Amino acid sequence: MEHKKFNYRDLDELREDVFRSGAELPVSAQLDILKTPFQLSNKLLSNRLAIHPMEGCDSTAEGAPSELTFRRYKRLGAGGAGLLWVEACAISSEGRGNARHLYLNRDTLPSLKMLFDSMMETVKATSAEDLRPYTVLQLTHSGRYSKPYPDATAVVVTAENPFLDPFSNSKRHLITDEELERLEDQYVETAHLARETGFDAVDIKACHRYLISELLSAHTREGHYGGSFDNRVRFLLQVIDKVKTQVDIDVTLRINAYDAIPYPYGWGTDENRLPSLDEPRRLMQLLWERGVRMVNITTGNPYYNPHIGRPADTGPYTAPEHPIESAARMLNIIREMKAAVPDMALVGTGFSWFREYGANIAAGCIERGWMDIAGFGRQAFAYPDFARDIITQGTMLHSKCCTSCTKCTELMRFGGQTGCVVKDSQVYLPLWRKATNGRTMMSTRVGNHV
Ligand SMILES: Cc1cc2nc3c(=O)[nH]c(=O)nc-3n(C[C@H](O)[C@H](O)[C@H](O)COP(=O)(O)O)c2cc1C
Repeated sequence: MEHKKFNYRDLDELREDVFRSGAELPVSAQLDILKTPFQLSNKLLSNRLAIHPMEGCDSTAEGAPSELTFRRYKRLGAGGAGLLWVEACAISSEGRGNARHLYLNRDTLPSLKMLFDSMMETVKATSAEDLRPYTVLQLTHSGRYSKPYPDATAVVVTAENPFLDPFSNSKRHLITDEELERLEDQYVETAHLARETGFDAVDIKACHRYLISELLSAHTREGHYGGSFDNRVRFLLQVIDKVKTQVDIDVTLRINAYDAIPYPYGWGTDENRLPSLDEPRRLMQLLWERGVRMVNITTGNPYYNPHIGRPADTGPYTAPEHPIESAARMLNIIREMKAAVPDMALVGTGFSWFREYGANIAAGCIERGWMDIAGFGRQAFAYPDFARDIITQGTMLHSKCCTSCTKCTELMRFGGQTGCVVKDSQVYLPLWRKATNGRTMMSTRVGNHV
């Protein structure tokens, strides 16, 4: 079906288009399952709703949280979700994706601890229950998308990539095996600090084609970390093993199951750009054997094929398919990952475009056992208390929903601090006007391949 903007007046109209698209997508009229607790090993989550990691690009130059960061996390803490997955936080200064990327190190630890504590205080002040949400901090190295300061001259890549190279910094350094080995210890050091901060878990980020995600498809790389499956997953598994043995903290992952970049340059993808999930399935089993108990699944690359992972009404190009098809593909891939490791707790992605009916799709997916917890990204920027409304009112309010306008991404690309320009306009509309200065993402270099 060709791309169309969201225009449904009720659930039945949405169901009709789901049917027309031919996609298999469970839509439930009953949201109660979202309110049920979830047992994750020895921790109880109060409900099945999660805040996905969403970078605000609003740290200080040193990588410490700013007033805007505190404001965002207080609002999210008050939102009622059982799982708070905090945004990408760099493990090294050169691995920051922008000059306002959070960076956890000895110097920024006290301020990140204050951020964590203030989020938890808000939870306590706004929640009727004693259960605090399960908290995860995402650890990252931005790899080919590193830009620690505006005039940064070079980036590290793990392998050349004819699909992505034209859209990345032209000065690329192929990271050596020795440099990768040194980075493993930085993940461990940052995981120690995350524990001191108070988080229940760290996420060894392996999605959206940042450093570890890119390594998973480094078929053309030579040496210990390229070529065979065992070599390509080696770095990720070594980091997980080291963190698990050296730090008293849970280890989780956010991982791409499908890059939508053709083999041999993409992970989980065949020569024709279609999903090919044998390797992602194999990796899920290895993660389970290593003691990982929760994985957050996503797809695509926000710089190259954003419609694959964050379906939208508007963006830098008109998507080659209906947003229902993009979301259904992602949700069905998550379903396949769940089937591969049924005991692994899976957090799903793909609900924000559906506005208030995202809750109905989430409930349908959980009822059918496609996933255990439903995560919301852009929706959390627009509507930080969506979980509370689902739990207390049994619905999400259309007027508070994300409009999938892509302005939050636009803000990020143009170097601004980001949030919802439409529903949190007092703060973010002036920032968007200033950062974009009349430009749109059409004028940026974004790939648009199906
Ligand atoms: C502005 C912005 C910042 C994001 N930051 C992160 C991040 O730090 N880590 C991550 O894994 N995903 C990040 N994402 C992706 C979201 O977590 C999510 O996967 C995506 O928006 C699709 O989910 P949704 O349809 O609920 O928005 C970001 C997305 C946007 C738009």
